[in-house]
Amino acid sequence: MSKAPIRVAVTGAAGQIGYALLFRIASGQMFGPDQPVALNLIEIEPGMNALKGVVMELEDCAFPLLTDVVQTSDLNVGFKDVNWALLVGSVPRKKGMERAELLGINGKIFVGQGKAINDNAAKDVRVLVVGNPCNTNCLIAMQNAPDVPNDRFFAMTRLDENRAKSQLAQKAGVPVSAVSNLCVWGNHSPTMFADFTNAKINGKPATEVITDKAWLEETFLPVVGKRGAAIIEARGASSAASAANAVVDTVVSLTTPTAPGDFHSVCVCSKGEYGAPEGIITSLPIKSDGTKWEVVKGLHLNDFAKEKIAVSINELTSEKETAMAALA
Ligand code: NAD
Ligand code: LMR
Repeated sequence: MSKAPIRVAVTGAAGQIGYALLFRIASGQMFGPDQPVALNLIEIEPGMNALKGVVMELEDCAFPLLTDVVQTSDLNVGFKDVNWALLVGSVPRKKGMERAELLGINGKIFVGQGKAINDNAAKDVRVLVVGNPCNTNCLIAMQNAPDVPNDRFFAMTRLDENRAKSQLAQKAGVPVSAVSNLCVWGNHSPTMFADFTNAKINGKPATEVITDKAWLEETFLPVVGKRGAAIIEARGASSAASAANAVVDTVVSLTTPTAPGDFHSVCVCSKGEYGAPEGIITSLPIKSDGTKWEVVKGLHLNDFAKEKIAVSINELTSEKETAMAALA
């Protein structure tokens, strides 16, 4: 095989999302069918035995693209030379909890991980934070990795985009592939704004296809915003296969050209786009040329959209203050 492997660190590799994610990376679904990959699997000590079992299963798949697997609880080993760091490992919320409640529990994990990425990762490292509250955890990791440019840090709202697309497709009676231009703005929390005002269905404004404004504002938005909680209620555990799928989608969207005129939802470090305060990690419409990504400019936001986004941004600002106080 001629290409050098892409080395990918996955934290929480023996957890639910890890179990759904690793096999997709190793099979080529994240970086393509001719791109070798190496996996650096990171767990805390109590997870190391389960991780051993997961690695046995990876071996038993005999994936032709998988060149090397590292298993470790040492962050300096785990992030050594990695091109991608997928930060999944952290405690998921249980029934009745809000994601922000995880800040005190999980926030400190991302201090050490940010530092270890800064000191060990490859020069081109890109970091995707999945562990909740993912926006603020991403901010913490970014602040602790001063040598890694801010535009290499991402947090995940692609699951919310995918959920929103499915809901719109079902309501319109079209295949999900007919829905495009769906940006989730703000925080990966119930305050997120799944922007039906800019979404398209078969290339037409979604609001011309779904004319039931009350459904869009009062049913669609809360269904998408509270979908994570609905899954926890039904399954007794937080979403895992769909979350892993969204991790794959996010990386694919950042590393392959976006369809002309379309965009995807990724949380990135704001430079003040669409009025978001600079330096917070907020979800924005992103397009990629396959190498570099950018925020799509010029989307019209009506007063309803602006109001919704402002609520989510305020939440992110206060999460940031809480996290900084807790970590001080
Ligand atoms: P899980 O409990 O099944 O697995 C988490 C794993 O992380 C465990 O194996 C645990 O041992 C490990 N871990 C804990 N702390 C760690 C650390 N400091 N370093 C390395 N590993 C560590 O949980 P899960 O269902 O896989 O969910 C993981 C996280 O992803 C949760 O925070 C969850 O809320 C979040 N999540 C985010 C999204 C999203 O859309 N952003 C979607 C689903 C889940
Ligand atoms: C989700 O959206 O499914 C995850 O963020 C899990 C959660 O706590 O909602």
